[in-house]
Amino acid sequence: MSNWIVAIDGPSASGKSTVAREAAKRLGGVYVDSGALYRGVTWKVLQQGLAADDSDVVARALGAMRVTFRLEDGAVRFCIDGDDPGAAIRSEEVAGSVSHVAAVPEVRQAVTGWLREMTRFGPLVMEGRDIGTVVFPETPFKFFLTARADVRARRRRQDLARQQEELDEGQVLCSLCRRDEMDSARPAAPLRAAPDAIMLDTSDMTIESVVRHVVEAVRRHDRGAEPGGADR
Ligand code: DC
Repeated sequence: MSNWIVAIDGPSASGKSTVAREAAKRLGGVYVDSGALYRGVTWKVLQQGLAADDSDVVARALGAMRVTFRLEDGAVRFCIDGDDPGAAIRSEEVAGSVSHVAAVPEVRQAVTGWLREMTRFGPLVMEGRDIGTVVFPETPFKFFLTARADVRARRRRQDLARQQEELDEGQVLCSLCRRDEMDSARPAAPLRAAPDAIMLDTSDMTIESVVRHVVEAVRRHDRGAEPGGADR
């Protein structure tokens, strides 16, 4: 297979990042975190002291941003106006505004265009919310990861603790659910599984078994079988 694309969609903290990163490594593809781009645009808007919940302001700010991409350690990374925002895009401040920014049609159109152009880096494992439905609907490799809300809150809290942000599980759960609601309810490219996506509830699965599902489905297709076929 040459330029295949694996789409891994699902709500926050459903395990997408860890799984996509590892699957990319094992399959020899390039890892792309599409949410990082929505977070990056949000970070830049906030950094300029602009109102992230005002669509016109966000669209204007986006028009002035110069975004560049590069391949680094098997993943696509980006700079906005020459700056790599790094871990700053993971802050709760950015998390609190990113759903507003990601709902702005101009932002979705720009990010979708950037993501489609990434095929120039090689075969891709791309995680997000609309990769299987909007960005690359023609790929046969679509996965939709879910997990129970309590499991997702626990995972997200562990991520935040690693970044020295201490929040209790209730606060994290509220923030996650609010974001999922906004991502699911927005008119433009809402969080939704593609009809032909393989659904995986990761609540009681190990990372290893989820990764194996993904990797095996791609390899099976390479051998001529359906991605969601009988030897699953
Ligand atoms: O996966 P994440 O939590 O880093 O995503 C951050 C935000 O970006 C999330 O609120 C939804 C949005 N997003 C999106 O709308 N479409 C994508 N393909 C990826 C992320």
